[in-house]
Amino acid sequence: MKIVLIGASGTLGKAIERELAPRHEIISVGRNSGAIRADLRNLASLQALFKSTGSVDAIICAAGSVHFGPWNELTPDKFEIGLSDKLMGQVNVVLAGQATLVDGGSFTLTSGILSEDPIRYGASASLVNGALESFVRAAAIELPRGQRINIVSPTLLEESAQAYGPYFRGYRSVPASEAALAYSKSVEGAQTGQIYKVW
Ligand SMILES: NC(=O)c1ccc[n+]([C@@H]2O[C@H](COP(=O)([O-])OP(=O)(O)OC[C@H]3O[C@@H](n4cnc5c(N)ncnc54)[C@H](OP(=O)(O)O)[C@@H]3O)[C@@H](O)[C@H]2O)c1
Repeated sequence: MKIVLIGASGTLGKAIERELAPRHEIISVGRNSGAIRADLRNLASLQALFKSTGSVDAIICAAGSVHFGPWNELTPDKFEIGLSDKLMGQVNVVLAGQATLVDGGSFTLTSGILSEDPIRYGASASLVNGALESFVRAAAIELPRGQRINIVSPTLLEESAQAYGPYFRGYRSVPASEAALAYSKSVEGAQTGQIYKVW
């Protein structure tokens, strides 16, 4: 398969590439890294990305930023970071990518455990992750030509535990390689409308 991997240079993206590259052609994408540059926040840059790739069999997004911070410092602007980047960025990937994705091809997006299991400082992440999961359930019944869509919801990754561990006391972490298996299931399997929890 020819697979677009947005966020290929990241902690999660590198593990997804390691899992899939032995069997498939990976087109790596990032804002400042990868074979092709595109910014989730900019629909025109995603449209240019898919114009340059031509027809693809799978589109994975393992990117997207949100603001973390104390409740009493949250402002609309801080919510807007996650809304325009991780949430609408991934929705834009689907809107821009659907014409380029083959019949029966798959989208795989990324949410995270905070949709169901919130932490202090994580209100924006919880909001965005929950919205993405609802979007995937809905898109699965409307996408044309047998196209599929799933979302992977990882817990804290072991590789990120040093940076974020203090915010996730009591949470189990998993290696990124374990989360990568869920992307393999989504891309190489047949399911749609699924939320793969890797907790
Ligand atoms: N790490 C964890 O423990 C964990 C757990 C659960 C969920 N997640 C979710 O998994 C996703 C990836 O996390 P990560 O830890 O792997 O992040 P990361 O290491 O910071 O990597 C992010 C990747 O996305 C690209 N990227 C960032 N913003 C972009 C944008 N606006 N447009 C296009 N590409 C962009 C980056 O490339 P450039 O720098 O070149 O743009 C990089 O390749 C995030 O949505 C995160 O919320 C992570």
